[in-house]
Amino acid sequence: MSSIRASVHGQWSSRWIFILAATGSAVGLGNIWRFPYLTGENGGGAFVLVYLFCVVMMGIPIMMAEILLGRRGRKSPVNTMHTLAAEEGLNSNWYLLGWLGVVAGFIILSYYSVIAGWTIAFIFKTGMGDFIGSNADQTTAIFSELISNPVILLFWHTIFMFLTIYVVSRGVKSGLEQAVKFLMPALFILLLIMVAYAMSTEKFFDGLSYLFIPDFDSLVDKNLFSDLFLPALGQAFFSLSIGMGAIMIYGSYLSKESSITFNCFVIALADTSVAILAGVAIFPIVFTYGLEPSGGPGLIFISLPIAFGQMPFGTFFGSLFFILLMFAAWTSSISLLEPAVSWLVENRNMTRIKAAYMAGFIAWFLGLLTVLSFNHWAFEFTFAGTIKENGLFDIFDILTSNIMLPLGGVLIVIFTSWLMSRSSTIDELGVGDNNIYKIWYFIARYIAPLGVIIIFLNTMGFFKLFSLNN
Ligand code: TRP
Repeated sequence: MSSIRASVHGQWSSRWIFILAATGSAVGLGNIWRFPYLTGENGGGAFVLVYLFCVVMMGIPIMMAEILLGRRGRKSPVNTMHTLAAEEGLNSNWYLLGWLGVVAGFIILSYYSVIAGWTIAFIFKTGMGDFIGSNADQTTAIFSELISNPVILLFWHTIFMFLTIYVVSRGVKSGLEQAVKFLMPALFILLLIMVAYAMSTEKFFDGLSYLFIPDFDSLVDKNLFSDLFLPALGQAFFSLSIGMGAIMIYGSYLSKESSITFNCFVIALADTSVAILAGVAIFPIVFTYGLEPSGGPGLIFISLPIAFGQMPFGTFFGSLFFILLMFAAWTSSISLLEPAVSWLVENRNMTRIKAAYMAGFIAWFLGLLTVLSFNHWAFEFTFAGTIKENGLFDIFDILTSNIMLPLGGVLIVIFTSWLMSRSSTIDELGVGDNNIYKIWYFIARYIAPLGVIIIFLNTMGFFKLFSLNN
């Protein structure tokens, strides 16, 4: 039955475009900005190890479930959950899961756009040679000056949000293909060039061992669940774009012939390699130039420019790097807005253009809170054993990645593996009742939900985590 249901929003024009688009959604600031700074805040190798574990045991199976639901429902996440619950004879309130995702999408996009704005600002700073010959103090000063100026932040945030709205208003499919086909590989190559530079620095091996060799001693006085597993879990969800309906709506444009399992593996592999490469490029620079790995959200904006200021053709490579990073953020941000926009189009009968501007405006407005988090409204608190300095921004980030996305993901995977009939999921995964299906089914039923729930429950000394620093 689901095979004849078509999406009102159309379909991907070839099966590769889904992989490209979903990879475009997954690869973004999460890999190059968020992964390194969280790794640095959480002590390096142990975090990376737990992160990889979360990607494999929870991320991939939940991603499969989310795409499966999208393709079967073929509507916005809210309506997909509504339709599928009715089809399977389940409680109609499951549509609320769609709303959880829409709200998470607004909040993530609101700050994502501000950070993407930093990358645009850095295109110009690097391009004009601001970093030539800079040391760590100078790049730190340039970064601090940027984030202390709300007007400039607002300006770039507005530009980036406009770019996002523009693509969504025209339908996410047009243009996306080109962007992802050429720019993603280019970003990948540029990261390799950065890694080559990192290899030439004094502390290359220190960086590598920091990333890949867990320092178990540093974990002694930590709460493993709240201080390590929860942030790693959140990063896995954030980086793979799962738990809020973004990948569900992309799945709704996917043709019935395409293999969900294969697609998920390709996407997760691409996403993870970009994050690891970013780490390998960044930490040697961090150590060589005496920066603090736990420096927070500014980490890449302070460390990479030193490298661009030193390496041959650094001005060129540097501005190109930030251009490509902006594009990577762009192909991610559109997937954050799409669930809300597709709902407005379906249920409020709006044109895509009007829906995109309306939803985009809400996210833009919410973004003002993040703009102010780095200057006038900055405040500190401690979370997961780390001091967070940027008040509301950090709260938004923690609330969405560490709570809303895993909660959404757990509900998605429980819905799919416990509540939907086995025949529906077998039909949709298209693998028959074979071993691949059985492995997925087992992990989706037991490991993934229990993993998330155990991490949640153990963190439930939760309120202790938000101790305010004076
Ligand atoms: N995954 C993207 C990144 O790493 C961000 C993103 C896009 C996202 N869509 C999402 C995160 C949906 C969570 C949910 O930059």
